[in-house]
Amino acid sequence: MAMWTGLIEHYRDFLPISQQTPIVTLMEGNTPLLRAKRLEALLGDRMEIYLKYEGTNPTGSFKDRGMTVAVSKALERGAWVGVCASTGNTSASAAAYCSVAGMVCAIVVPAGRIAAGKLSQALAHGAIVCPVMGSFDDALAIVRRLSDEMPVALLNSLNPDRLHGQKTCAFEICDALKDAPDFHILPVGNAGNITSHWMGYRQYRQVGRIQHLPILVGVQAAGAAPLVKGQPISNPETIATAIRIGSPARWQEAYQAKDESDGRFVAVSDDEIVNAYRYLAQKEGLFVEPASAAALAGLLSLAREGYFTETFQRRQRQHRLDRDRPVVVCVLTGHGLKDPQTALQTFPLPETLPPTPEAVKRVLKEAMGRT
Ligand code: F0G
Repeated sequence: MAMWTGLIEHYRDFLPISQQTPIVTLMEGNTPLLRAKRLEALLGDRMEIYLKYEGTNPTGSFKDRGMTVAVSKALERGAWVGVCASTGNTSASAAAYCSVAGMVCAIVVPAGRIAAGKLSQALAHGAIVCPVMGSFDDALAIVRRLSDEMPVALLNSLNPDRLHGQKTCAFEICDALKDAPDFHILPVGNAGNITSHWMGYRQYRQVGRIQHLPILVGVQAAGAAPLVKGQPISNPETIATAIRIGSPARWQEAYQAKDESDGRFVAVSDDEIVNAYRYLAQKEGLFVEPASAAALAGLLSLAREGYFTETFQRRQRQHRLDRDRPVVVCVLTGHGLKDPQTALQTFPLPETLPPTPEAVKRVLKEAMGRT
């Protein structure tokens, strides 16, 4: 088996990369696509479900896909400072890729709202960290202004290079399944990822690598669901801090992806997010962060509604598909270690025991009695 070369080398022909581009890579991409048979059984075996686990990227989230391209292109253009606003993951990734590139990285983040894992990453990689008393939306407005007025490279997904990198997630799914899935579900915050995935699917369709396009389902947290509500939210609130965003920068493109794919946006409560978070960790062996669990919460909520079966049957009649069940891919965007605080609140640490075998035996026996 040939060594994985990083996504730029692997998908070079589909990316805005030339011989002159210095490639900044941490060997991102090539993440697992896991068949979720237990989940399928739970939902009555009416769908074929896959989980795309993006937590195995080098900094623990899908942002590395976009960052390898954005930082490589910034370096090619001669930039030596990269800036971004972030709910955490973008800043962790930008900080890591800038450190490899030998660039300075400055991040603007909502103070007190970044999960501990993400903030430690940015600090460890030596980024200039600017916590501001405001929301992600305020932070984004600041870096937009900075990048207009100063010679710095903007590393948010407003930068089209980011989208090119992130669309490779769709490529990998299609390469693994030998076609597009029927449904593609992902969490939506600033809406860069849904925009990029739709780009990826359309590009693969254009060159004939897939026969059909998927239906896109974008999931938002109920307290931060501007796309579901159809209007910006001034005080977004959710346990899923990664997608705590009231006014997505790629609003229009997100609607376009939904409309063109005949998809929909759906909101899920924090309780639904925590249930999905618990399910993934305890039944599928996948520790993800709350924003990622939101995607599964959306899947579960729509499955209960009968959405997948009904929509698929309609398509089957229209297009005479040879499959008898829909293929559904749910993208799990970030690793659970990103947010240890939420983990410890959800799964509290038991009391400390005396250092004796008896004490541990007692706990074990009690637990064994419960199962
Ligand atoms: N999932 C995770 C784990 C994220 O970190 C984000 C976004 C999303 C989903 C949503 O993606 O914004 O492209 O719609 N995080 C950004 C950040 C905002 O700053 O790390 P999106």
